[in-house]
Amino acid sequence: MKPTISGNSIEKTFQSVISNGLIREEDTVVICYDLSFLEERIRHLISLFPPSAIHGIAMKANPLVKILTLCKTLNVGVEVASLGELVIARKAGYPPDRIVYDSPVKTFNDLEYALKEGVHINADSLMELDRIRKLKEGLISESTVGIRINPQTGVGKILESSVAGEYSKFGVPIKYRRDELINAFREHQWLTGVHLHIGSQGCPVEMLINGISLLFDFVKEVNDLLGYQQITIFDIGGGIPVSYSGSATPVSMEQYAKTIRDKFPLLFTDHYSLFTEFGRWVHVNTGWVASRVEYVKKDLGINTAMIHAGADLFLRECINPKDWQHEYSVLDKNGNLKRGQDINPYNLAGPLCFSGDILAKNVDLPAVEEGDYIIVHDAGGYTFSMWSRYNSRQTPRILGYYNDGVRFEILKERERFEDLIHFWE
Ligand SMILES: Cc1ncc(COP(=O)(O)O)c(C=O)c1O
Repeated sequence: MKPTISGNSIEKTFQSVISNGLIREEDTVVICYDLSFLEERIRHLISLFPPSAIHGIAMKANPLVKILTLCKTLNVGVEVASLGELVIARKAGYPPDRIVYDSPVKTFNDLEYALKEGVHINADSLMELDRIRKLKEGLISESTVGIRINPQTGVGKILESSVAGEYSKFGVPIKYRRDELINAFREHQWLTGVHLHIGSQGCPVEMLINGISLLFDFVKEVNDLLGYQQITIFDIGGGIPVSYSGSATPVSMEQYAKTIRDKFPLLFTDHYSLFTEFGRWVHVNTGWVASRVEYVKKDLGINTAMIHAGADLFLRECINPKDWQHEYSVLDKNGNLKRGQDINPYNLAGPLCFSGDILAKNVDLPAVEEGDYIIVHDAGGYTFSMWSRYNSRQTPRILGYYNDGVRFEILKERERFEDLIHFWE
């Protein structure tokens, strides 16, 4: 499978965007998703794991309802991390037994709602588990319940997206609460699942495998102690890193799945229900963003392309540019890819009112002119889902397409002023 969408494919698609009139004067930014590629990635994922596995695609990576609906037709589930996401998942038509509900701060009301809906719930703490116990005494629920365990395997390259350090705000730390965890399984026969998630981007595969290994041993120990197989649900979370650079070799999902199968063959049999929660791997490489260049400033020997996508769409990139770097291309106003002429460094500055709103600095690009488009590659996940309302910019038009722009679909219309005002009312 190709690692990402090539510049040539984006060029062809963007020309089709223009000729179909899909980019209007007010569309200073458009987000485009290659839906053929998204489908291909999901089918590939499904083919690598046992057919019974439930792939709860992490909604936080891309919550667009039309994308969720498309994913659902491919027979995957969804991982949700708040009550809001749970409600969106139900609206998109996901059945309860395909929804995995994670969140570190579920209220009594959230838990009651989830139990009544009958979705799978991963408790984040022993305290949350106790709330579930209390609620279950007063209602009948189809929900299955697991507990998130922090295997304490360490942090990866990116601190703010690593969640399995010695200390983490997520899950129950296994080293310090092993006995309490065992007791929880002993006391609650309905507690039939374990869940881990090591981090998102920046964690080496060996670390993910190490986490699974620690939990696998723990599960065996508990089931042996209890004398029967109480734990049947094994949720390995997400976290496979992707490549944000067309030239780097991405981590292979094929290799990851194979390693899990080779090391823990029982996870690939009927012995366990295997759950996964990939988000980044599914979405990031399937989308790109085009922003019109409004002005090019040339002061103090620095070229600054003033564009319309900044920290509102690329929060992490602006706050922590060292860890989050994309590839960029330039298309002229007719959608022709500018190749290799007059390369110079450019700062790509966003539209927001703070000086840190710079998407990238010193990016080598061919001569950028007013009216060109800057393409941000690999922007299909954790971008629009992290949209910031600062400065009240309207959310952009979002397009889905098949086969390099042979067919388009508007996934979400550019936000209208009425909706923008409604947000603040
Ligand atoms: C609990 C949980 N599951 C799954 C994911 C998805 O991770 P990724 O998008 O890296 O696959 C996350 C993301 O942080 C998460 O917190």
